[in-house]
Amino acid sequence: MAEHDENPLVVALQTLRTEALARLGHLTDLTALDTWRIDYLGRRGALTQVMRGIGQLPTAQRPQVGQVSNEVKTALEEAFEARVAALKQAQLASTLAQQPIDVTLPGVPVSLGQVHPSTQTLREIAAIFSDMGFQIFDSREVESDLYNFALLNMPPYHPARDMWDTFYINERVVLRTHTSPGQIRAMQAYHPEPIRVILPGMCYRYEAITARSEIMFHQVEGLAVGTNITMADLKGVLVTFARRMFGEDRQVRFRCSHFPFTEPSVEVDMDCLVCGGKGCAICKYSGWLEILGAGMVHPQVLRNGGYDPEVFSGLAFGMGPERITMLKYGIDDIRYFFSNDLRFLEQFG
Ligand code: FA5
Repeated sequence: MAEHDENPLVVALQTLRTEALARLGHLTDLTALDTWRIDYLGRRGALTQVMRGIGQLPTAQRPQVGQVSNEVKTALEEAFEARVAALKQAQLASTLAQQPIDVTLPGVPVSLGQVHPSTQTLREIAAIFSDMGFQIFDSREVESDLYNFALLNMPPYHPARDMWDTFYINERVVLRTHTSPGQIRAMQAYHPEPIRVILPGMCYRYEAITARSEIMFHQVEGLAVGTNITMADLKGVLVTFARRMFGEDRQVRFRCSHFPFTEPSVEVDMDCLVCGGKGCAICKYSGWLEILGAGMVHPQVLRNGGYDPEVFSGLAFGMGPERITMLKYGIDDIRYFFSNDLRFLEQFG
């Protein structure tokens, strides 16, 4: 140390350190601190100037002065960082003192989305049929006229086509009016194996929108093809479905109907959930509510799917999940489903 002291540059460096640290101790804002940093440690700062002079020193003195200047530099840098941190901390403490934060206040709740009521019903339907051994088969929403009608036993100009008001993309392409064209696609995919599938999906109809009818709605189709499938199976499957969906003591009735792709065809009704079968405005005083259409797959449709109707038979059904949700929860207007009104949607959390 004594040796250092004798060197005028070393003395100058130590004086600089003492003076710089003393000045630093009095600084109370970040701008002043920055000026201090430039004055001592900047490119033209006092310490840098001293360090530049080392090159001109006699060789013997250089290591000694170099070492001391590095020590001074490190000391100043560390003191500077510590002072900046202390100042920031003090500023934060004063801000908090002026605007106290009450950490015990409850947080702002994050609003969570919910599963759409149609999706909830679709999942419920899928779970019931999956327990009966049905798999899900996905089919297309934009269909050809061939699959939507002709292969379902409705050749061009067949009057039964009028049962489905259709959105045509062009003469040969339509938005599917029902999930039934998926029956043919499933048969072509599974042939010659037996089939047990449900086909959920969106359908489109060029209809007037009313409290009961939308132009866009879901359907779930069901199809089973095998060597011993009878009307009794159709009844069993659909009664099981209705009771699991709506309650074990539901009464179910099968009413004769007509679809070109099933023979015989039925519509399935259930005793009115509102009046229990006595008759009310909801069931139009009949005591019954329709839940779906169904039947035994028409031999021609089996043939169109690649199955020999002498060997195979099949059952099929088609239902509307929005109508089922309406029945289940007493919803009186189908338009709520796709109008995105949170007051409706939030009731299905
Ligand atoms: C059909 O679409 C037949 N494909 C069903 C079928 C499948 C019969 C397999 C036999 C064998 P329908 O047009 O009745 O049938 O429609 C079936 C269900 O879709 C109706 O019971 C109803 O729940 C629903 N649905 C029909 N039109 C609308 C609509 N505009 N808005 C909401 N739901 C509808």
